[in-house]
Amino acid sequence: MIEIKVLRFDKQKDKKPYFKSFSVEKDKKMNIMDALNYINNEYNENISFRSSCRAGQCGSCSLKVNDEVELACKREVKNGDTITPLDFPVLKDLIVDKSEVDEKVAIMKLFLEDENYLKQEKEKSVEKINNKNKEKNPLIIPSVDCENTKKVRTCIECYSCLSACPVIKESANFAGPYFMRYISKFDFDPRDKEDRTTESIKSGLYNCTSCGKCGQVCPKNINSFSDAIEKLRALAYKKDLGPLDAHKAIKTTIMKAGRSIEPLGESFIREINKKKKNSKNKIAIFTGCMVDYRLQNVGFSLMDVLKENGIEADVPEEQVCCGSPLLRTGQIDIIPDIVRRNKRIFSDYDTIVTLCAGCGATLKNDYPNYGAKFNVLDISEFLVDKLNTDNMKPLDMVVTYHDPCHLIRGQGISKQPRDILNKIKGIDFVEMEKSDQCCGAGGGVKAGKPEIAEALAKKKALMIKKTDADKVVTICPFCQYNIQDGLNKEGLENIKVINILELLKESYN
Ligand code: FES
Repeated sequence: MIEIKVLRFDKQKDKKPYFKSFSVEKDKKMNIMDALNYINNEYNENISFRSSCRAGQCGSCSLKVNDEVELACKREVKNGDTITPLDFPVLKDLIVDKSEVDEKVAIMKLFLEDENYLKQEKEKSVEKINNKNKEKNPLIIPSVDCENTKKVRTCIECYSCLSACPVIKESANFAGPYFMRYISKFDFDPRDKEDRTTESIKSGLYNCTSCGKCGQVCPKNINSFSDAIEKLRALAYKKDLGPLDAHKAIKTTIMKAGRSIEPLGESFIREINKKKKNSKNKIAIFTGCMVDYRLQNVGFSLMDVLKENGIEADVPEEQVCCGSPLLRTGQIDIIPDIVRRNKRIFSDYDTIVTLCAGCGATLKNDYPNYGAKFNVLDISEFLVDKLNTDNMKPLDMVVTYHDPCHLIRGQGISKQPRDILNKIKGIDFVEMEKSDQCCGAGGGVKAGKPEIAEALAKKKALMIKKTDADKVVTICPFCQYNIQDGLNKEGLENIKVINILELLKESYN
């Protein structure tokens, strides 16, 4: 038997929702829907929930399990599961009222707007289109034009993304992933005549932090950022309708000096190369702009940790910004040049090690689209099996870990940083609630919509507070800055956010 909890609520008789626990006799592969049916049959309960296809096709059964969005017909039930409805008004138990979505679809006119199309649809019913005139018929979209909408058209309307998106809850004018996906479907449809790009900007095109949570929960693997929002941002840029001024300023800075920020202090790369000339090792460090110009201490910690473990690596001069701030905000015209410059510097190396989640995700996921495929490893992937723990001195502190979105979802890395933390002697490692929830720093939001970054950082700060941690470890300079800002604003400046390399260095001192 396993124990699960279900949130019950019947607005006819209950003042407020309440949890009820049930013992379930579990078959090998019993899913949440089977468990709910079992409870209704065995205990004569009447838990209300939606279902239709029972095969992950219709999206009707979406709900939350342990606060993560799931399809009830696909998620295996486990001991201790807590089942709650999606974040919509509850009608009864696990059934929610999704009518606000339909109303918004109507208000936003999310249907094809083309009189010519409607006229031809009528004609089509009486005149069969033959292959000969297919090419000239505007109803038949050439396959090249379909490419941009292929993925987003597979949506099964489960609305999981709307429930999982952390930004919607902090930004009233952000329509959310489902709607941005919907807008993109029409914006890239050559038959549609509405100004969808302007509509997307009004609907919060620049409010998305690119955290990728929508893609993680989507049963059809639609990542509304990379599959829709990023493409809409590129289109807005092409039409000269975007991005925000703060994003344009970043592009100017990159074009001027190859870095997305102005330096504070001496460049780490320049400093390190004054002492040690590159020796054509097989391993190269890609520092990213922040470690080179702002968090030089992370870079110097890295050099100490490498030395402690007998690892030689180059930090090549002339490396430039990876281009992530431009890719994420749609300013893609100078990306080929950036990729070409970095390719020239790094192509002789066997391995490139990154110190920033955003840089790593960009080199791994975007560079191949521009003809540059490297063997890229995040620093945690690179170090996890190489660390010598014999010469570590015990540290006496409570530590928690924040998963950067571009590391956990952008690169699938969550275990390696935890394995490293568990190797450091004397560390009391405590998981925070929702360690993978976006801190608000990414996708150009910290620069362009700082109020959203601040609101999400505040949430993160409150999660950290509950752990009683002395230090928060992460592997993204942008998260590091934003979470520290959030902690400081909450009066928690005594809790320091540090890179995992800084903690390792401390343990080797
Ligand atoms: S019942 Fe159709 S997706 Fe679960």
